Amino acid sequence: MDKNIKKLTIYKLFLNSKKYSVKWSGYFQVYEKIFSNYRNKKIKFVEIGVANGGSLFMWRNYFGKKAEIIGIDLNPNAKKLEKYGFKIYIGSQSDKKFWNKFYKKEGKIDIVLDDGGHKNLQQISTVHHSLPYIKDGGKIVVEDTGTSFLKKEFNNPSKYSFINYSKNIIDIIHRRSPLLNKSLNFYSKKIFSVDFFESIVVFSVDSKKCFLNKEVNNKAKNEWAIDYRHNEYFKGIKDKLDKQYGLMNKRSFFRRLTRKIFYRNFLFNIFDNLKIKKIFNEMKR
Ligand SMILES: C[S@@+](CC[C@H](N)C(=O)[O-])C[C@H]1O[C@@H](n2cnc3c(N)ncnc32)[C@H](O)[C@@H]1O
Repeated sequence: MDKNIKKLTIYKLFLNSKKYSVKWSGYFQVYEKIFSNYRNKKIKFVEIGVANGGSLFMWRNYFGKKAEIIGIDLNPNAKKLEKYGFKIYIGSQSDKKFWNKFYKKEGKIDIVLDDGGHKNLQQISTVHHSLPYIKDGGKIVVEDTGTSFLKKEFNNPSKYSFINYSKNIIDIIHRRSPLLNKSLNFYSKKIFSVDFFESIVVFSVDSKKCFLNKEVNNKAKNEWAIDYRHNEYFKGIKDKLDKQYGLMNKRSFFRRLTRKIFYRNFLFNIFDNLKIKKIFNEMKR
């Protein structure tokens, strides 16, 4: 165990929790990074997957007295933990009706953490059904996303894995670029960013920050800058041709021809892609 983990408050609280819990050692540094701003604030924190209750005590001690800690589990035994002051709901995270009832009762939530069954549908349902009910500034955190790569019990890797679903959300967030000319949906209107850690995915929710992006410029004069994006190949020849013809007659056939050949030639895409392919292959090692 890394000595820096041992120093973390959340790790110490985990060790001292009065009920049993088991976690992966790498999670505590992620918790500190994503949750430290919520400590001692009046937040509503929901954990799916209660088991013996060990993590519920850890969260209560970490977030402080003002936080309300709510647990959800499919196992009715979890109700036993209500005597310690936790609110416990019994139901399945992959059941849309359960979520509708839950949010009707609880209203908006600051943080939802999924440590439930870890199957694709369970993790995906948690995010899909919770997203409309997360407050601005809140988060949905899904643990054990490594199951997206496990065959046994989880039937992955698959097109329908949780990690693939999360990758789709990356695409959907980009709808906020006006260059894409796509309409926004409730994901692109609510999810500000997605953080990927090993086996944890974090969705940061903030509808105020999810506006359609817009190009802005300052008041200084645009002087000499020309984008050299397409100047990587044959730069010497291009500079020469530009000097001789480029600035003289913008409409000339010769200029257009040279630009086609030396600037946006489809061959350059092939050259680029060969280099990218090599990098992709190096990544697999
Ligand atoms: C890994 S344990 C939770 C551990 C606990 N968070 C801790 O750290 O001490 C997973 C729990 O998720 C519950 N669970 C499994 N499938 C579920 C589902 N579909 N809906 C709600 N809870 C589920 C299990 O009953 C089990 O108690």
